[in-house]
Amino acid sequence: QIIRKALTEEKRVSTKTSAADLVTETDHLVEDLIISELRTRFPSHRFIAEESAASGAKCVLTASPTWIIDPIDGTCNFVHRFPKRLAITVSIFGIHSWIAFGDMEMMCTGSHRQTPQRGLGQCGGGQRLCLGAPKNLSKALVLTEIGPKRDPATLKLFLSNMERLLHAKAHGVRVIGSSTLALCHLAAGAADAYYQFGLHCWDLAAATVIIREAGGIVMDTSGGPLDLMSCRVVAAGTQEMAVLIAQALQTINYGRDDEK
Ligand code: IPD
Repeated sequence: QIIRKALTEEKRVSTKTSAADLVTETDHLVEDLIISELRTRFPSHRFIAEESAASGAKCVLTASPTWIIDPIDGTCNFVHRFPKRLAITVSIFGIHSWIAFGDMEMMCTGSHRQTPQRGLGQCGGGQRLCLGAPKNLSKALVLTEIGPKRDPATLKLFLSNMERLLHAKAHGVRVIGSSTLALCHLAAGAADAYYQFGLHCWDLAAATVIIREAGGIVMDTSGGPLDLMSCRVVAAGTQEMAVLIAQALQTINYGRDDEK
């Protein structure tokens, strides 16, 4: 309700790590609400959340039960109302993971287990997730996000990664403005792969559970196991596709969430 109401109102926008890294009072309001509700129910649990981290809270993942929260993923879309109904999400990872879309009409869910259980992730009113499974890059629809850095060296690498996939005859490379939303599109079979440098653990945590429960692969851009704090990811419907994407990419260094 808070997000829906704020969508049509004037917003107070500030910047964080770069001029393209935006935050509004609604991001703070939603994060505070989610944390205070969860804290009432689970007083001993820990929290990692985007705006708390921006205010200096450390992102340290321990063995203790931890909720990882992005109050609005796609804040730039939210600020520009692009497009009003669908291009933002609220992402909560924990005992159960939820990703709610901007219009709150569609929600993806998954449960945190040691071993992901295929077929249990759901999107929109109980609809089973169904990942696409093309075998090679040609004909694949690939999603990515730009990340917050805009210095010439980073932009050159970002564009050259896109170019490599287009040279490999991918059908398209799309940037929709929300990492979590893009990962949900992958989980729902609307795209074949996703990669990004410069996203954060709160963009990725809940979506990783949902993609894995849909039978998909989430890995590091080096081709190794996913490291939630490493600010980079490749995800795909199949291991084969994820490896092909990882092999095509040049690394863009964004540091680690747990070292900021
Ligand atoms: C960002 C968005 C953006 C992506 C960044 C994310 P925010 O999240 O998903 O598309 O490029 O890497 O951090 O700031 O809107 O929550």
